[in-house]
Amino acid sequence: MISIPFRRGLVVAALLLGAQAIAVPVSAQEDAAAIARGGRLYDRFWGENKAAKPTTDHQAYPHKGGQYGKDVSWRCKECHGWDYLGKDGAYSSGGHATGIKGINGAAGRDPAAIAALLRAAPHGYTEAQLSARDVSDLALFVSKGQVDMMKFLDYPAKKARGDVAKGKTYFTTLCAGCHGDDGKKVQGAPPLGSIQNPQEMLHKVINGQPGEAMPSLRALDTQISVDLVAFMLTLPQR
Ligand code: HEC
Ligand code: HEC
Repeated sequence: MISIPFRRGLVVAALLLGAQAIAVPVSAQEDAAAIARGGRLYDRFWGENKAAKPTTDHQAYPHKGGQYGKDVSWRCKECHGWDYLGKDGAYSSGGHATGIKGINGAAGRDPAAIAALLRAAPHGYTEAQLSARDVSDLALFVSKGQVDMMKFLDYPAKKARGDVAKGKTYFTTLCAGCHGDDGKKVQGAPPLGSIQNPQEMLHKVINGQPGEAMPSLRALDTQISVDLVAFMLTLPQR
C-alpha cells in the first residue's frame, strides 16, 4: 500500500468507501491534462513529443509538394482543421483546403477505436512518430476535447464572440509575463497580433503550445479563452 501514488491511493480509498463521487473528479483532472496534450499533438506532434520531423508528404495529403512544406502535411490540423471541421470549417476554401472531412463526427466515440484509426490507412502513424501514450492522448482529445468553434467565433468577420476588455485583463495577468503586453516579447517568434486566425488562437489557448511551458486553459470556462482571442486579435500585427 505504501508505494501507491497519492492520487491512485485516493481513488482506491474512494472505491473502498464506495464513494464514486470522489473518484470521478480525480480521473477527470487527469483526463484534462491528457486531453490538452492530445490537442498539442494534434497541432504539431514532433514539437510536443520530439519525434523526428517528417520529410516526405503524407500519403493522404492532396497537395503533394505543396507550399507549406512536407512536414506540415502530417499535422492533424492540416487535414482536419484548427476547428476540427475539415472541409466544412475554416479550411473549406483557400490554400489549406483539402476536401477532407473533420473529426467532429468522431466526438464521443470510443477512444480505443479512434486510436486504432491513427495506426491504420489512410493515417499510418508509426510508433516512432506517435507512441502508445501519444495515440491515447490524441484519441482522448478527439473523443472528449473538441470545442464547437462556430458557437464562439464569427467566421466571416474573423472575430471572436468575446469581451475584449476582459480578455485584456486575462492577458496582462496570465500571459504577458512571457508574451509582453503587446504580444511581441517571445524572442524569435512572430508578434501574437500577426496570427489573425481566431480558430488557430483558440485551439492553442485551450490546449497550449507544443513543446513550450505555456499553460493550457482547458480546465477553465471556454469563454475565458474566447475573451483572450478577442483581445489578441487587437494586438499590433507588426
Ligand atoms: C494527410 C491528411 C490527414 C492527416 C494529416 C490526418 N488525417 Fe485523419 N483522416 C484523413 C482522411 C482522408 C480520413 C478519412 C475521411 C473520410 O472517411 O472521408 C481521416 C479520418 C479521421 C478520423 C475519422 C473521422 C470520422 O468521422 O470517422 C479521425 C478521428 C481522424 N482522422 C483523426 C486524425 C488525427 C488525430 C490526426 C493526427 C494524428 C489525423 N487524423 C491526421 C486524413 C488525414
Ligand atoms: C511560460 C511562458 C508562456 C506563457 C505564460 C504563455 N505563453 Fe503563449 N507561447 C509561449 C511560447 C514560448 C510560444 C511559442 C512562440 C513561437 O514559437 O511562435 C507561445 C505561443 C503562443 C501562441 C501561438 C503563437 C504562434 O505564432 O503560433 C499563442 C496564440 C499564445 N502563445 C497565446 C498565449 C496566451 C493567450 C497566454 C495566456 C493565457 C499565453 N500564451 C501564455 C510561451 C508562453
